[in-house]
Amino acid sequence: MIKNAIIGGTGVYDPYLLDDMQERVMNTPYGDAKVITGKYQGTEVAFLARHGEKHSVPPHLINYRANIMALKMLGVKNIIATAAVGSLHFEYKPGSFVLADQFIDFTRCRPSTFYEGGEAGVVHCDMTVPYCSELRQALVKAGAANGIEICNGGVYVCNEGPRFETAAEIAVFKQMGGHLVGMTSVPEVCLARELGICYANISIITNFAAGISPGVLTHSEVLDMMKNSLGGIRKILTGSLKYIDEKAPCDCGNILNEPGVMK
Ligand code: HPA
Repeated sequence: MIKNAIIGGTGVYDPYLLDDMQERVMNTPYGDAKVITGKYQGTEVAFLARHGEKHSVPPHLINYRANIMALKMLGVKNIIATAAVGSLHFEYKPGSFVLADQFIDFTRCRPSTFYEGGEAGVVHCDMTVPYCSELRQALVKAGAANGIEICNGGVYVCNEGPRFETAAEIAVFKQMGGHLVGMTSVPEVCLARELGICYANISIITNFAAGISPGVLTHSEVLDMMKNSLGGIRKILTGSLKYIDEKAPCDCGNILNEPGVMK
């Protein structure tokens, strides 16, 4: 059983420093997902590149269900997912790390549940606290151990993409209480919750969002900033593994105990 997984978003495409690496194609009822498994200092880890090889899959076409089901099939209990994001506030500067604690969902055309009726049933999953507070603590500790500042908390607005936002959209998101804008955390976090998996997001701010940034936005500026941040991200990801508490008292897994829920 591999308990811990990393989902690498934009700019995080390789499993870095894992021993005994193995590439596995997991056949799930939702399609195939490629996962690399290995060990970091004795701890087994699964790595999944969300956008596929060479960033070949756009946010709205990612097979989120296959990805999350593949990790579940490996026995994963904890997922730490990276995400490149734009910032809605001058205080949240490019280059900084934020652990999202809430999201606002503006996605439009993504399969977002495993429970589509029939034999699977229908589930209305609690999302009061979508991102696992225990996993976030592990990330905070890893940041502190490595001298890296991490802001623990922020509202992630998930936009459909793949285009960037208009300045007017960003102004609305800001008024609604958003701090960060990205294109991938939803439905990934919801699907993990449906399968009782703890899930944390580490957002890497790559740019000020549209209308806050003085210029136009480009994917290459996002990639450049991710390249600069990669050393820090790797330290946080690998460093967090030893702080993940197997007996963490969070509620993420309890959805599996609701009556009528497929296990
Ligand atoms: N908007 C949406 N997604 C993003 C951004 C942004 O400004 N930057 C990185 N991912």
